[in-house]
Amino acid sequence: MIAFKPSDIVRYLDQYVIGQEDAKRVLAVAVHTHYRRLSLRKTGGETGLDKSNILIVGPSGCGKTLLCETLARRMSVPFVTADATSLAQTRFVGEEIEAIMTRLLERAGGDLEKASQGIVFIDEVDKLKTGASGTIRATSGESVQHALLKIMEGYPARFDNGRVMDTSGILFICGGAFVELERIMARTHAFGYIATMEGEDENILERLNNRVKPTDLFEYGLIPEFTGRLPIIARVTPLDRNMLARIMVEPKNALYQQFRTLLAEEGVQLVISATVFQQIADLALEYKTGARSLRGIFEELLTPVLYSVPDQPGIKAVHIRSLFEPPQFLTRQMPESEGRATATPA
Ligand SMILES: Nc1ncnc2c1ncn2[C@@H]1O[C@H](COP(=O)(O)OP(=O)(O)O)[C@@H](O)[C@H]1O
Ligand SMILES: [Mg+2]
Repeated sequence: MIAFKPSDIVRYLDQYVIGQEDAKRVLAVAVHTHYRRLSLRKTGGETGLDKSNILIVGPSGCGKTLLCETLARRMSVPFVTADATSLAQTRFVGEEIEAIMTRLLERAGGDLEKASQGIVFIDEVDKLKTGASGTIRATSGESVQHALLKIMEGYPARFDNGRVMDTSGILFICGGAFVELERIMARTHAFGYIATMEGEDENILERLNNRVKPTDLFEYGLIPEFTGRLPIIARVTPLDRNMLARIMVEPKNALYQQFRTLLAEEGVQLVISATVFQQIADLALEYKTGARSLRGIFEELLTPVLYSVPDQPGIKAVHIRSLFEPPQFLTRQMPESEGRATATPA
């Protein structure tokens, strides 16, 4: 296991995930500590450090899953995601959890040792509220919490074929939107609010006051034993217009880059003005699904281009200046500086 420093991990995450600076730091430190602990354990050292699993709280489509899968890629450990709601829809939670472990083992190429150091991301744990009703479910949210608790506490996973996997080194990251949490926090923090005093760092105080407390999670409907296994809480924040625009342009595998490469293979240069990314971001904001709707809008914009380019061999460049104007088809390439990606108009 390579011992990446937290700052190395953050720099890697920065290449793929826009914003979410606080979450990146919290995750990087937690992951670094987790794998330090594992390597010390392997060399026989007793660290006295208990495993700390992680909870990521924040709206959907803002990078929770992306952060986790990018982390796993940096650490070169196998990674699987699972959905707490589907766990609650099955009658046999135990079997479902075993299936998650089986997938992890598959990702590790069947190597038990490798799988036992993997990362498991369980999304939508906020849907496991106790007493949640409405739909008829085979398993209550609370019993799913108990089932997850067992595996998070390090109970070995047993497979059909009799193999047993040590799960005590697996890092569990739970995620959820926890929509009403803000309201609960606003209420409970009215009592525990730490006010600024002379000479105190306002940023530190702000962070303390924005912390999600275990009591907030109990009140939300997670059982104390479950939250007790998730002592590290990272928060992702909603993405604003500029962040959404940057997501299409800046990450290593950004949409703009993908389509530029695609068209370049047909000998056509694609140039999209910064205004367009801002316009798409505005639409995405209206859809309220974070960055999820970007790809759809982007592909729709490019459909007419991708359709007609193969029919017009003379075309050397396509310039899209606005979402509300037809693309321009040019017979000469534009200066490369024009094609350089920017998400914000100069
Ligand atoms: N902060 C971000 N930076 C870059 N891409 C993002 C970001 N947030 C979301 N995305 C993109 O939006 C999509 C959904 O993100 P995801 O991580 O699954 O959201 P969540 O798990 O928070 O619901 C993914 O395709 C991801 O690439
Ligand atoms: Mg997700």
